[in-house]
Amino acid sequence: MQKITMTVNGRSVTADVEGRTLLVDYLRETLNLTGTHVGCDTSQCGACTVHVDGMAIKSCTMFVGELDGAEVRTIEDMENKDGSLSALQKAFQDHHGLQCGYCTPGMIMSLSALLRHTPKPTEAQIRHHLEGNICRCTGYANIVKAALAASGQMPSADAFAQ
Ligand code: FES
Ligand code: FES
Repeated sequence: MQKITMTVNGRSVTADVEGRTLLVDYLRETLNLTGTHVGCDTSQCGACTVHVDGMAIKSCTMFVGELDGAEVRTIEDMENKDGSLSALQKAFQDHHGLQCGYCTPGMIMSLSALLRHTPKPTEAQIRHHLEGNICRCTGYANIVKAALAASGQMPSADAFAQ
């Protein structure tokens, strides 16, 4: 066992963890942050994507024991301070960027990292960035639209609702 202290969604967490404990399991089973999904457990699907020190990472690929001093952010912390959906979450809703929703937390975490360092990505950049995130339902077109809308490159769905 080893003792680690990290920040998860703005809250300090200290824990004794086994060396083999994966971050995704710790988030889901110990912290009850079940918005982070497990789709494959083999580092392919991206459903488990979270932010570690601002970078999007697949939490099934990381041991929690490696994260002493790290800052972790999950889908549960992506809404606005007032509890409303963030611009990216709203864009997914407006542009039907999800069907079953299983991949969606990972998509949101991955795309929000992209938009932080590339505020106006091209469609090609968005598609390239999502290579590690698999969606079995949508065909990706509406996910890409949502990312373009969230970056101000498409009219919001509200504009058509008049
Ligand atoms: S569960 Fe981590 S990449 Fe699929
Ligand atoms: S919406 Fe079902 S897997 Fe993406």
